[in-house]
Amino acid sequence: MVTQRGEFMEVAYCDAGSLAFLIGEYQIEGPVNAKHLEYLCMNEKMSNFRPPAQQKNALIEIANLPEGMVYISRHGLEINGYITFHYPDGYSRWSRHSAVLELGAIEISPDWRRRGIGAALLKKAFDNLKMENYIVVTIEFCWHWDLKGSGMETFEYQRMLAKLFGSAGLQKRATDDPDVTEHPANVLMARVGRKVSRDDVILFESMLFERNMAGVN
Ligand SMILES: CC(C)(COP(=O)(O)OP(=O)(O)OC[C@H]1O[C@@H](n2cnc3c(N)ncnc32)[C@H](O)[C@@H]1OP(=O)(O)O)[C@@H](O)C(=O)NCCC(=O)NCCS
Repeated sequence: MVTQRGEFMEVAYCDAGSLAFLIGEYQIEGPVNAKHLEYLCMNEKMSNFRPPAQQKNALIEIANLPEGMVYISRHGLEINGYITFHYPDGYSRWSRHSAVLELGAIEISPDWRRRGIGAALLKKAFDNLKMENYIVVTIEFCWHWDLKGSGMETFEYQRMLAKLFGSAGLQKRATDDPDVTEHPANVLMARVGRKVSRDDVILFESMLFERNMAGVN
């Protein structure tokens, strides 16, 4: 009885991170601060957008932005997935809208895909009540997609991403944003937070199609 109780207590008080590590799982956390990221290393196959070391620096930069948010999945001290949020770049039309936040990138190491990490990162990020104050947009540029690694063709991959982001409430939106129209497979998705004002929603809707407004065809 005493022995059994002792064994149980040992498991019950085991640090969740170590336990996850021992059973080969991952943990999702965030928004993480830059110091925490500095302490961790990147999985060596996290190279979809840039080499892992550069990607780690990019995550640190985003975490240091006042509005920046980085969520990660990690196995022990190794980052095997992340998702980032920040204000749109100055060149983008969406930077003119103060309530728009951009979902910049999501990447899961090829060693860890199809285990629900992408969906779990999205869920964690959108469980944050802060998100209800924003219109979150993401532009899916097809040249960033891992067609080779996934074995999918372009529009199949687009459907996969639409379903994945759809799980967090993002919906495809038609737009004449040149970043999107540059390639027929590119897609804009957006989610309007519950606390976004009516004026901000109207402004966002008016920004979807701007060419005619500016007298450009
Ligand atoms: C897209 C990506 C983030 C998905 O991450 P993931 O952790 O593998 O995704 P999940 O395991 O959470 O899958 C969620 C759903 O997406 C779909 N999906 C993901 N990968 C898929 C694949 N290779 N084939 C078919 N469906 C897939 C499935 O519907 C899946 O649900 P299911 O497993 O219940 O069928 C990952 O493949 C990746 O990092 N790709 C390279 C970078 C990229 O394309 N980023 C998006 C543009 S920024």
